[in-house]
Amino acid sequence: MKFKIFSDIANLTRFAAESFVEIGSRAIEEKGWFAVALSGGSTPKALYQLLASESFKNKIDWTKVFFFFGDERRVPPDDEESNFRMANENFFQLLRIPDENIFRWQTELGNAGKIAADYEQRIENFFELDVKPPAHAGGSDKKSPRFDLILLGMGTDGHTASLFPFTEAVKTGCVSGRSTVAVNYVEKLGETRFTMTFPVINNAANIIFLITGAEKAETLKEVLEGEYNPEKFPAQKVKPTNGNLLWLVDAEAARLLQ
Ligand code: 6PG
Repeated sequence: MKFKIFSDIANLTRFAAESFVEIGSRAIEEKGWFAVALSGGSTPKALYQLLASESFKNKIDWTKVFFFFGDERRVPPDDEESNFRMANENFFQLLRIPDENIFRWQTELGNAGKIAADYEQRIENFFELDVKPPAHAGGSDKKSPRFDLILLGMGTDGHTASLFPFTEAVKTGCVSGRSTVAVNYVEKLGETRFTMTFPVINNAANIIFLITGAEKAETLKEVLEGEYNPEKFPAQKVKPTNGNLLWLVDAEAARLLQ
């Protein structure tokens, strides 16, 4: 696990963009494509804008980048709460990413189980049809595809993706027998969320946490220095089995760490 603290968000975002390009270019060089699962929320917005800007947009072959979402809210794709909409407006539209390179949760399918099953199938089709992860990558069975990069945030309650404290998807690691995605009812929000599960997240070749803001400091200290209690602090359960974990944190969020 690598951990980097940045004096401000701009420096953190630039480092994250450079890491994205480095990981992506290497994946494209090695196997011809780069599969990345994006995080939602507000922190990654600046990263997406920077990657789409003049200073980064020519650093990677976007036609070979395939975008997925670590989680999604149960809203239409044009809803202001939609993680897809945030990425579409701040990333995909600016770079004119073709639809066939974007794998969003089809929340318009209505039934939550159907949305999850559809997304799981499309993820599995992508990884099955195009290429099996090379043996040296620790392989992965059909059920846990191997993303080249998964971007994650962390909520002030220690959730990551939509794996919230004490929810079913955190307790069992997966729900209804699936190990790729889960429909996760979040009591405290009173809403249903869609999320990738720990088996997929921890099978990634690279995971990058983007965490900023003073309001995250206490939780980050608990997650990194407190006792291991992943039901209470799901971010603690992010441990790639055969990959790199990088925490990018600003000084405000890191201020309570030893
Ligand atoms: C979401 C995200 C979620 C996010 C955290 C942190 O759907 O909201 O996937 O897991 O990463 O809530 O959000 P911020 O980075 O905006 O604080």
